[in-house]
Amino acid sequence: MPTEKSESSVVLDALNAPQAEAVAHVDGPMIVFAGAGSGKTRVITYRIANLVASHGVPPYRILAVTFTNKAAGEMRERLDKILGPSVTRELWIGTFHAVCVRLIRRYHESIGIGQNFVIYDDSDQKALMKRVLDDLNLDERRIAPQKVLARISREKQEARGPEDMSLDRWDDEIIQRCFKAYQQRLRDSNAVDFSDLLLYVLRFLERDNDDDAKQLRSRFSHVLVDEFQDVNLVQYRLVSAFSSSTNNICVVGDDDQSIYRWRGADIRMIRGFTRDYPDAVMVKLEQNYRSSKNVVGAALGVIRCATGRTPKELWTGNPEGEQVQVVHCANERDEAAFVVETVKQHIAAGTSPREIAVFYRVHAQS
Ligand SMILES: Nc1ncnc2c1ncn2[C@@H]1O[C@H](COP(=O)(O)OP(=O)(O)OP(=O)(O)O)[C@@H](O)[C@H]1O
Ligand SMILES: [Mg+2]
Repeated sequence: MPTEKSESSVVLDALNAPQAEAVAHVDGPMIVFAGAGSGKTRVITYRIANLVASHGVPPYRILAVTFTNKAAGEMRERLDKILGPSVTRELWIGTFHAVCVRLIRRYHESIGIGQNFVIYDDSDQKALMKRVLDDLNLDERRIAPQKVLARISREKQEARGPEDMSLDRWDDEIIQRCFKAYQQRLRDSNAVDFSDLLLYVLRFLERDNDDDAKQLRSRFSHVLVDEFQDVNLVQYRLVSAFSSSTNNICVVGDDDQSIYRWRGADIRMIRGFTRDYPDAVMVKLEQNYRSSKNVVGAALGVIRCATGRTPKELWTGNPEGEQVQVVHCANERDEAAFVVETVKQHIAAGTSPREIAVFYRVHAQS
């Protein structure tokens, strides 16, 4: 596996032609549509550097959203090297949740929540839902708290509150009552769950005649979104609203890599983007820098049959590398034994365990 090159302090070096085009673009909407390991995150990082260094955009007016805190940290680290820490400190780089927490603290009065609000995690939510069921005299064995919470989370990802739920199934009305009571109890404790963090900011942002909301809508002059294939509807509306005053929105993504369907991510968002922003500049990145020719070829072979994907090519200048092996095992135990044996062999041959990854389909298999 090629090692990560250190970023130099010059903004436009070490980019191939389409990457440089995406980085040099300044105003208006843009979508970078690209395969795995083709430098999407590098484009976002360099684009931020270019906006600040070459176009004088104030760093505090740039918002970059990543999918994990780790990715945000890495982006910040690289920008530190290019722009220096005093500039990087002012950039807004973070996950949707981290950015929304900061904004709620800042606009908590207009949003209508106490400044010292608490964020409920999964176990807090479950405990709260048990109390709600108890309040409503519902039997936990008949209405599972987890099931109600999962439904509430799905509704919230589509920006729906209890009043907006569709009531089709036999238990929908019960769930709606739980949803209402759950929100009331959260409010009573000055608490929010993870979905609320985003929804509170979205509802505030989308208020028409509110000066604070108007101010927040024009707070950022440039909005950049990494891993755009994984955004859900609420997140999409958030970035649209944040960029509504300038239309300077740049998203990068790969519909072949959508992994968050289960939490409301929707690859229709990528296609929707070109509909909502018809004048968006599209850049495709097709050179992979991370993997050997054999790995890239095998990955393409698997994904090519996927229905409904937008065709895109992927090639690499890297060496052929070793052949990809497909191994059939009799069962899970056999499979585990094979993995253990292979890992042992690699370690004996001098490979560091840090360089070995094992993937599995479901946690039960781990
Ligand atoms: N023009 C380039 N020259 C040399 N190396 C590059 C170039 N572009 C990207 N790389 C390297 O390729 C690797 C992948 O880049 P990056 O993480 O930006 O890709 P990505 O498309 O975001 O990947 P993923 O699909 O995993 O999100 C990194 O090690 C990066 O430094
Ligand atoms: Mg990336």
